[in-house]
Amino acid sequence: MADTLTITDNRTGRQYEIPITDGTIRAMDLRQIKVDPDDFGLMSNDPAFLNTASCRSAITFIDGDKGILRYRGYPIEQLAEQGTFIETAYLLLDGNLPTETELVTWREDLSRHVMLHENIKKFMEGFRYDAHPMGIFLSSVGALSTFYPEAKEIDDPASRRTQTLRLIAKVPSIAAYAFRHSVGQPYIYPDSELSYTGNFLNMLFKRTEPVYRPDPVLERALDVLFILHADHEQNCSTSAMRNIGSSNADPYSSLAGAAAALYGPLHGGANEAVLRMLKRIGSVDQVPAFVKSVKNGEGRLMGFGHRVYKSYDPRATVIKATADQVFDVTGRDPLLDIALELERIALQDDYFVSRKLYPNVDFYSGLIYQAMGFAPAMFPVLFAIGRTAGWIAQWEEMLCDDTRKIARPRQIYIGESQRDYVPIGDR
Ligand code: CMC
Repeated sequence: MADTLTITDNRTGRQYEIPITDGTIRAMDLRQIKVDPDDFGLMSNDPAFLNTASCRSAITFIDGDKGILRYRGYPIEQLAEQGTFIETAYLLLDGNLPTETELVTWREDLSRHVMLHENIKKFMEGFRYDAHPMGIFLSSVGALSTFYPEAKEIDDPASRRTQTLRLIAKVPSIAAYAFRHSVGQPYIYPDSELSYTGNFLNMLFKRTEPVYRPDPVLERALDVLFILHADHEQNCSTSAMRNIGSSNADPYSSLAGAAAALYGPLHGGANEAVLRMLKRIGSVDQVPAFVKSVKNGEGRLMGFGHRVYKSYDPRATVIKATADQVFDVTGRDPLLDIALELERIALQDDYFVSRKLYPNVDFYSGLIYQAMGFAPAMFPVLFAIGRTAGWIAQWEEMLCDDTRKIARPRQIYIGESQRDYVPIGDR
């Protein structure tokens, strides 16, 4: 069996044989298909990239029909059950799990970069008291590029390594400062005795106690949430990271753009939207009326559906189990009953079943975050902390790819053809 595709152009009767590699054809191979020598050549048209691979990647594997997610070959369930977030970040970046010695060095290297320049703090103080923490987060990450101009040396592996450490170490500090700013509390300096996630909780929630000790169940739950959010192949924000990075921009600027893409309610802002939706529904008996309104096209069931998963999102399964452990510590949130009822009704309703709409990672994550004491506005920021590891791993992979070129899609022009300028008095 030949790995080729034969195309007959019915406009000319000509035939073309196009190679198939990894289940794909190269869109550029279509360019030879022309009606006459002046023809630009055939292009593919794929708004929103529904069926276009933009790169070759060895980082994350997803089988959306079977509900499979693996980082570097490891099933997400195993990483979430047995691994830690910083181990996962190492895995995404390096390709393999760290040995004990490598993990010690990795942890030490990260803790050396956790502090923020005092001027960053001053910069963050300039935001209004009610500024959205995700707006603060993405602007502050972008501002880091002005503190580290050597980050422009994107072809220098040593520089890239330093920026990688800085970004993974500093995003929790920025997130914590954004949170403290929004509640009008003083900033807390890092405690290097604590784990990556334990220290993040310290910088968020420490009050007057001399030493902050995070609750181990909550610390573990947040670490698991970071693992689950760490990468998800070529999603909207990761594509933004690669797109911006393809212009050779520094990683802080690229990551600020990725965070901006994550902010939207169809992506990382969905967990915030889920909480607001559950509050709006208000009680379990209002669920059927709400589901009816969704089916009438009056809004979406947030936290449901996914571009890639057409069965249960494996991350949602892990999160549901984590939610039970968290609620044992914090007490049960009545909104959980609304969420469970929504899921129960939706999973047996033909509208959702026929469209293969299942709960995604964000359906339950917001409930956990809220139980831990976060306001909904912080939810996308928490998503961004975990995803930073994936964004940088994908950026690194893109930079080391021999076929790398600036991202530059084509368009189908549908505007006016040439016309002459009309003086203003004659219009
Ligand atoms: N509620 C109601 N109907 C929906 C929903 C939903 N959540 N999602 C999709 N549909 C319907 C949609 O109206 C369409 O119906 P029809 O064929 O009759 O027009 C059909 O299902 C296909 O939808 P689509 O918009 O073409 O699907 P998509 O792949 O472009 O969108 C999505 C994927 C995630 C943007 C979408 O499912 C959605 O808006 N979900 C709610 C937001 C959400 O939870 N986002 C978080 C995604 S997971 C975290 C992350 O990775 O960012």
